[in-house]
Amino acid sequence: MLQAESAARALMPRYGVGEIRVPALERIQLYQRSTGETSDVVEKQMYTFSDRDEAETVVALRPEGTPGVVRAYIEAGLDRSDPEQRFFYSGPMFRRERPQKGRYRQFYQFGVEVFGRADAACDAELLIMINDYCKALRLSARMEINSIGDATCRPAFREALVKWGREHWDELCEDCHNRIDRNPLRLLDCKIDAKLAASAPNSLDYLCDDCRAHFDTVRGTLDAAGVEYQVNPRLVRGLDYYTRTAFEIMAEGLGAQSTIIAGGRYDGLVEAMGGAAVPGIGFAIGLERVALALEAAELIDGTSIDAVIIALGDAAVRQAAKLAHDLRDAGLAVEMASALRKLRASLSRANKIGARYAIIIGEDEMARGVVQLRDLAQSTQRQVAVGELSDAIVGAGRN
Ligand code: HAM
Repeated sequence: MLQAESAARALMPRYGVGEIRVPALERIQLYQRSTGETSDVVEKQMYTFSDRDEAETVVALRPEGTPGVVRAYIEAGLDRSDPEQRFFYSGPMFRRERPQKGRYRQFYQFGVEVFGRADAACDAELLIMINDYCKALRLSARMEINSIGDATCRPAFREALVKWGREHWDELCEDCHNRIDRNPLRLLDCKIDAKLAASAPNSLDYLCDDCRAHFDTVRGTLDAAGVEYQVNPRLVRGLDYYTRTAFEIMAEGLGAQSTIIAGGRYDGLVEAMGGAAVPGIGFAIGLERVALALEAAELIDGTSIDAVIIALGDAAVRQAAKLAHDLRDAGLAVEMASALRKLRASLSRANKIGARYAIIIGEDEMARGVVQLRDLAQSTQRQVAVGELSDAIVGAGRN
């Protein structure tokens, strides 16, 4: 998780994105009005409860980060005073889903939201950022993009989907029967078999001229930047606020929960939540899923502990604490072994955590101002003066 998050944080200054921290607890209406009443997240997955205030306000643990960021942006008046903004956030989200590998009830997202940019170059820039992120982690991932249209062209697409759904009523699942009028785009998300989905209307066939030009520019910019992607005209998102560009990034080795990053444009959301008509776009990284993908591809960084200090006897323990401090000051990563373990057990743990050296100090070594420096990979040991220890470790080359 640390690797997944720090790689994302490291990218933010390069794209001029600043951090925002928003509450984990918000009024339920925030999500009803943004994530959407017909989304699974709001319909079935939110953890909600009544506050003990007079109004018995119903609050929810945040199921996603976007609505809270939009609320904070409007409340600070930025939509009117200084609309072009870029934020990132990182923290826990909560959804009452059936837990399985890669799907948890409390999970961590790292998200990015950009406001005030309606141009397609911004969509491409975020996708390039995601590409940089996967490259930094050496993660091979598949990027799928689509355009789901806007208020001008979406109604015709919706209508076509409803018509198609009625024609295939018997082949659709019960969830789809419920969705057909409320949220027909989600018919494409159903567990219906691929052959049936292939006969469904395709959002790209319904795009108006503006949406088509926007999508063409996104694609052209990605092509020019050398970013690989696939157009998936059946990609729709589970949250209600999306317009135009929608995307998902999938990694291998994760089984059913393979989407590690997802997002899209939400041009009407700020206005729908009471702000000015400011466009928005963003995405969120599922940090556990990235960590699982790194593990599956054996890309997890090993521990970078240089040395474990093993002190034998009370007096040596006191000396060891000072030695550990001096070595850390010299830039080395050092761990002190538990004083309750025997030498053999401490050596085997040092090996297990991948430390390069063990530094062994006993009463005798202490009296002579030396330690035993054991190279754990080579199983060789030599005596080194305390004053020369950091040079001996650094000189031998660090991990
Ligand atoms: P989302 O697709 O609901 O989008 O979630 C984004 C990512 O969070 C998913 O692709 C997945 O990696 C991870 N995720 C979601 N649910 C779980 C779970 N139960 N357990 C583990 N990981 C999970 C959003 O949340 C939008 N707010 C993204 C966005 C930002 N769109 C625009 N701006």
